[in-house]
Amino acid sequence: MPMSSAIPKSVLLVCLGNICRSPTAEGIMRQRTAIAGLTMKIDSAGTGDWHIGKHPDLRAQTHAKQHGYNISKLVARQVSPKDFIDFDLILAMDAQNLKDLQAIREVAAQTTNTDSLARLALMSEVDISYLNQDVPDPYYGGEDGFEEVIKRLESSVDAWIHTWQI
Ligand code: 4NP
Repeated sequence: MPMSSAIPKSVLLVCLGNICRSPTAEGIMRQRTAIAGLTMKIDSAGTGDWHIGKHPDLRAQTHAKQHGYNISKLVARQVSPKDFIDFDLILAMDAQNLKDLQAIREVAAQTTNTDSLARLALMSEVDISYLNQDVPDPYYGGEDGFEEVIKRLESSVDAWIHTWQI
């Protein structure tokens, strides 16, 4: 059976704050799936609640814009158990995000058949360039961290799209 049967209808990108990595991932995935002719619902969220309602960090907005991604209108929200029902695939930016999401998935599993819950994976799970590596949190670092985030996310988004096109 062709792998294309595994194309998700919806993807949720998740980091800690939903103001740096995951909105950047959302912008990149929106643009690159559109170019690839793939139609899917794409959203992002954070495991934490500190930045709910805020637009992405200005540094993330600026670096994204320099690479052709406008993420200025995105608004942070917190991930919830319902997201495991609403989305087919949930991608965690780092190992801690993945661990936190596994706990939220357990909560969702208590009210829903596990077979129908979102598949959970690391952002880099299919990316041979950064295989199973974290997308490093740029929040407390310098500008170069934001560039590194974009480089890794472009690579990993392309790797996911490749798996959906086989
Ligand atoms: P993000 O970055 O998870 O990529 O959005 C962070 C944003 C805020 C915080 C940590 C990481 N914070 O501690 O407030």
